[in-house]
Amino acid sequence: MNRFTPAKPAGVRSVDEITGSRRLRRMRKADWSRRLVQENRLTVDDLIWPIFVIEGEGRREPIPAMPGVFRLTLDLAVTEAERAAKLGIPAIATFPNIEIDRRDQTGSHILDPENVINRATRAIKAAVPEIGIITDAALDPFTSHGHDGILRDGVIVNDETVEQVAAAAVIQAASGADIIAPSDMMDGRIGAIRDALDANGFQDVAIMSYATKFASAFYGPYREAVGTAGLLKGDKKTYYLDHANSDEAVREAEQDILEGADMIMVKPGLPYLDIIRRLKDEFSMPTFAYQVSGEYSMIKAAAANGWIDGEKAMLESLLAFKRAGCDGILTYFAPEVAELLRR
Ligand code: PBG
Repeated sequence: MNRFTPAKPAGVRSVDEITGSRRLRRMRKADWSRRLVQENRLTVDDLIWPIFVIEGEGRREPIPAMPGVFRLTLDLAVTEAERAAKLGIPAIATFPNIEIDRRDQTGSHILDPENVINRATRAIKAAVPEIGIITDAALDPFTSHGHDGILRDGVIVNDETVEQVAAAAVIQAASGADIIAPSDMMDGRIGAIRDALDANGFQDVAIMSYATKFASAFYGPYREAVGTAGLLKGDKKTYYLDHANSDEAVREAEQDILEGADMIMVKPGLPYLDIIRRLKDEFSMPTFAYQVSGEYSMIKAAAANGWIDGEKAMLESLLAFKRAGCDGILTYFAPEVAELLRR
């Protein structure tokens, strides 16, 4: 067996000469010291769970592109909300998959107080009053073209869409929603929703603005979940942010805050940690990230192939949001991670 002692090349200083007495590994030497100096921590209080709701009873439909995620009939949505509350998850966010014959050019079914989202809100509020309910004031699950706005002659018309979304927000609030979360990126929507809520006596209903929502490839599995994948032609670049832009994201967030947003959100999450940090530093607002469907599915798919440790990757990705400055995260991992944190 040959043994070689590395010869120190001439002129190279010793590590002591290089670092002085500073040794950053000192605090990493044991589990107890790592725990002691840990700067960020993920808790169940950081989680918002997005769920998909459908008409019917006793059915949970698997979503092939999102392993472990299901579309739930109203009764099962209530059961899952109960489970979430027991796990200590503070809030859920609901998204519908609307039957195709109820979708139209303007998404008018969003204004129906009896649509599945409003009924889900009432049912969950009645059964689980202690959990927060966040509703998505956006037209895309309700339009026959899958866009978040009213489409006329190939153009998403801003102001008409804002009127519709503000009216929908009032109906969602009347159904018991605690937070209205408009995800459509129309100009002026936050101010219009705030006015409409206040005018109807819903001063205590908050607004979580999808302040910086980027045109992104990571929404793919969600569009399968809500059934817009086959409907949508073209892209959403005339209303979502260009993912090359960061200054514009700051201006979008600033505008929404001026209009009355209580909380701001960055979406997608992991590819946009720089935006989260910028917004938190700039505005000191309650700041959230949406770890979107594609991010969830990538971790699930790689784990299913045995390429990564799914549980560790899930925890690492969620802690990254905290480190970037998030107060909380919308994530499809919510119940799984809540169970894990409890153990
Ligand atoms: C649209 C909307 C999207 C998501 C939620 N609401 C994006 C889109 O379909 O363009 C994405 C959520 C996800 O990917 O998990 N208002």
